[in-house]
Amino acid sequence: MSNIILIGFMGSGKTTIGRRLSYRLKQTMTDTDKLIEKQQNMTIPELFELYGEKKFRDLETQSIEYLLRTVKNEVISTGGGMPIRPENRTLLKELGCVIFLRVRPETIIERLKNDTTRPLLRGENPEIKIAAMLQERNPAYLETADIVIDVDDKSFEMILDEIEEVLGQYEITRN
Ligand code: S3P
Repeated sequence: MSNIILIGFMGSGKTTIGRRLSYRLKQTMTDTDKLIEKQQNMTIPELFELYGEKKFRDLETQSIEYLLRTVKNEVISTGGGMPIRPENRTLLKELGCVIFLRVRPETIIERLKNDTTRPLLRGENPEIKIAAMLQERNPAYLETADIVIDVDDKSFEMILDEIEEVLGQYEITRN
C-alpha cells in the first residue's frame, strides 16, 4: 500500500482520524501543517501574519514535494486548503491514495465555534465564510479524491472502520 492522504475542510477531523488510522495500520503519520510549522519554526497563524497566505500556499506545495521525495507507506493529513492549487492536486494524487473527509457546513460551524487557531475563519460571520469556502472548495476535494467518506454524525470508530473497509476494496480493485 502506498501513502494514504487525508484531505477535507478545516474541522473535518483529518488530524485526529489520521493519527488514529496510523495506529490501526501501524504506519507513521505526518501532518503537513505540523511539518511546515517545524520547518519554519513558526505557528500557522504567525506564518499567515508575517508572510501572508500566498507564502503559506507555496510552503504547502513544497511540503508535498518534500513528502514525495521522502516518505512511503505513511498516513498523511493535510491542511484544508491544500487541494486549492491545481498543481497540489496533481502532487497529492502522485503521493498516494487520497481520502476526502466530506463534512456539512453545520458540523464545521459547531466544531469550530471556539477555535482561534485558523486565521481564515477569523473576523465577522464565520458561518457565511465557511459555507462559501466549502462551496468553492468541494469540487477541488472531489477532483482529488480516490475515496469519499461522509463524516457527519459518525464516531471516529465508525469512520475508521469505514475507511479500513473501503481501503480493502480499493486495494482489491487496484491490483
Ligand atoms: C487552512 C486550513 C488549516 C491550515 C491553515 C489554512 C485552509 O488546516 O492549513 O489555517 O485554508 O483551509 P486544517 O484544515 O488542519 O485546519
